[in-house]
Amino acid sequence: MHSFASSYARIAAAILLPASLLLAADVDKKFHNAPASAQAAKNPYAGDDAAAQAGKPLYAKNCLSCHGKLGKGTGNVPSLVDGKLDSVKPGEVFWFITRGDKDNGMPSWAFLPASQRWKIVTYVTSVLPALNAEPEAAAPPPPDTSTSKLNAPPPPPPFTDFRYEKPGTFRKITVNDLPQPYATQSSNNGPALVARPENVWPVALPGFKVELYATGLDNPRTLRTAPNGDIFLTESDPGRIRVFRGMTGDGKPEQSAVFVSGLKHPYGLAFYPPGPDPQWLYVGNTSEVVRFAYHNGDLKASGAPEHIADLSPGGHDTRAVVFSQDGKRMFVAVGSASNVNDPDTHPEEKNRADILVCDPANCQLSVYAYGIRNAGGGIAVNPETGELWCSVNERDALGDNLVPDYITHVQEGGFYGWPWWYIGAHQDPRHQGKHPELKDKAIIPDVLLQPHNASLEFTFYEGQQFPAEYKGDIFASEHGSWNKAVRVGYEVIRVPLHQTGHASGEYEDFLTGFVLPDGNVWGRPVGVTVAPDGSLLVSDDGSNSIWRVSYAGK
Ligand code: HEC
Repeated sequence: MHSFASSYARIAAAILLPASLLLAADVDKKFHNAPASAQAAKNPYAGDDAAAQAGKPLYAKNCLSCHGKLGKGTGNVPSLVDGKLDSVKPGEVFWFITRGDKDNGMPSWAFLPASQRWKIVTYVTSVLPALNAEPEAAAPPPPDTSTSKLNAPPPPPPFTDFRYEKPGTFRKITVNDLPQPYATQSSNNGPALVARPENVWPVALPGFKVELYATGLDNPRTLRTAPNGDIFLTESDPGRIRVFRGMTGDGKPEQSAVFVSGLKHPYGLAFYPPGPDPQWLYVGNTSEVVRFAYHNGDLKASGAPEHIADLSPGGHDTRAVVFSQDGKRMFVAVGSASNVNDPDTHPEEKNRADILVCDPANCQLSVYAYGIRNAGGGIAVNPETGELWCSVNERDALGDNLVPDYITHVQEGGFYGWPWWYIGAHQDPRHQGKHPELKDKAIIPDVLLQPHNASLEFTFYEGQQFPAEYKGDIFASEHGSWNKAVRVGYEVIRVPLHQTGHASGEYEDFLTGFVLPDGNVWGRPVGVTVAPDGSLLVSDDGSNSIWRVSYAGK
């Protein structure tokens, strides 16, 4: 069994740990004893995307067989994407692959032309880390795209999958419902994206109308409604922020503009100060928070970005940003670098799997809440209570129905379990015996979602259009699973807050239909915001569009 084999490997690794730590410390100081001249050598292709892409076939031909498609290594072949290379100069990597280390199984690549070696270095240091940030990258076994499992019996309630998702269905997962770890196998079942067939649309309850607001986008991710009603969108892969203005009679934007381009994987967006007259637009790029001068009505950034704070790059690479209602605190969510690596022994996990906080007047980030595997997909402030809330992607590889993703209000200083505990006092079997003192500290989140849903951006509905009972409720995008035998997620959910600002643990399927009956996927919700007219806008990086859900029923 996979799990036994890997736990033996882990025990073996633990026994060897002291020696390998010493070794790692030596090597870290000087990367494989690279000479100073190697450190000084400049990469002629630094920042050159075309050269980085040209490195891809070279990597595939020369390196992939040992280091793997995603550079994760296996056995005695080291990972190239575990963060170690972040602190190594490109010249040192170039020097090392040129020389190789025959005794330890790494060939010399001196016979390749220097230009090819540099292109490989560029690919390894810039493209591979980005590939590994994709959720699909955490997958252990080879892909299983068979659709035979579609005839599998329904999962035990309250767990479900796409076959049973239907607008209007309420669900509630409690701590008592959790199965044992490894009760089912860990699947590798990422979506095969297909084009949306004509006549297939997202499905909402009767009374709601679904329309296409914008199409032809490139990796549309977060949405934010500016105080003046303009709709901001990040297109993360191309590094762009767009603005849409107005709404035509048939529900399309009247104007569309590029606010800024050339950013490094932007995700989070927040206007500052809160209120009707912002002066800045803050943007969470993967490795930093920046801000642009902004005044109501701007369709284009008037100047260069100003650096606000450094963030740990790579890994889970979306950085949600939000301000407290009084504007005195800026929150930034930084997800873990890995699925479940222990920060005690993995320094690259420092200041990660946290929600960080600072005073925006002089931003020095500190930890606001911790043990939160990845809230980088969505944090927001509840307008009713002023509390910070988050939407979290929990960990993988424990089976179909573990660990629930969640949406919760966030307690200052609170510990949410990762990586040693999950959903309260459940020890992660991969960290057996560690941190017993944290067992009773691990907070049980407010709303447990289907495991592997990939819960991303959410918003509190403050519009005037939907029926009164929706007022203040959460709408959240569930990007969809890879680590589950039959897909789950790929929908927008509603979390009722019962006009109290507090959740009861229930949620409801709100917008479904992004998976075809054969299991192929055409759409993946990411961002969600409320337009000035009270309709709900949902970005979808599967079909590269924005959907608009309005209420017409009476
Ligand atoms: C035959 C298997 C094999 C192939 C092919 C191979 N490597 Fe390696 N590589 C290794 C092994 C084994 C090590 C560990 C060597 C050591 O510990 O000194 C290694 C180490 C490395 C390291 C150092 C990593 C670290 O953390 O110290 C880098 C960088 C690297 N390889 C890059 C490459 C690149 C780039 C290519 C393709 C041009 C490549 N390797 C091809 C087996 C391979």
